[in-house]
Amino acid sequence: MMKENQLIQNTIDFVKKELQHAEGGHDWFHIERVFNTSKLLLKHEQADAMVVQLAALLHDIADPKFHGGDESIGPKTAETFLKSKSVDGGTIHHVANIIKHMSFKNSLETETEKFTSKELQIVQDADRLDAIGAIGIARAFNYGGFKNRELHNPDIPPNLDMTKEEYKKSKGPTINHFYEKLLLLKDKMNTKTGKKLAEERHQFMLDYLKQFYKEWNGDE
Ligand code: ADP
Ligand code: NI
Repeated sequence: MMKENQLIQNTIDFVKKELQHAEGGHDWFHIERVFNTSKLLLKHEQADAMVVQLAALLHDIADPKFHGGDESIGPKTAETFLKSKSVDGGTIHHVANIIKHMSFKNSLETETEKFTSKELQIVQDADRLDAIGAIGIARAFNYGGFKNRELHNPDIPPNLDMTKEEYKKSKGPTINHFYEKLLLLKDKMNTKTGKKLAEERHQFMLDYLKQFYKEWNGDE
């Protein structure tokens, strides 16, 4: 196996190239933020640092949302890449499993056999932290714009008990996404450090929504 730093650098180069045309909320900079936050969490949590770093870098390599809903493309692409770099089988398997099980939608599923690990928990926390706070707000409206969604529509209330299929097809205004997902993430954090970091970002979203409605309603 090649030197660890070289493997990380090769993976960074690969991911940057793969994500060249990705939409703004899922571009290389999202990966870089998740990678950096994962490394921050690693300082406080015990885990296999190589698995965490590789999974952070590869976790959005082929988002099913942009690949006709095919959920197996991401893990497969990561596996093929890591094999080409002669990474050991255990690491490849673990990284692929993390990518497969990480998304919020999968966590809503009742799977008979549910995979989890400290490494998955760290990358998932880092990914969730990037979905909340100021960056999370920017990403939500960016995604809404990409999908041509309304910002807000008082006649369309948030739907708090959507099935996985309904969630995927939902065309609701972006403000609804706060209630359907973003404000729920704080309580889903896995690690102690992640929970702590989520607090401030969560509060920022609450303040943001308060101001949003104030301006929406034309209040003084
Ligand atoms: P991740 O990058 O964590 O894999 P997703 O693919 O679920 O997360 O979403 C990427 C970004 O797009 C997140 O910031 C998320 O909040 C946002 N997003 C996803 N679905 C919606 C939606 N229906 N409305 C607004 N934003 C969304
Ligand atoms: Ni992500």
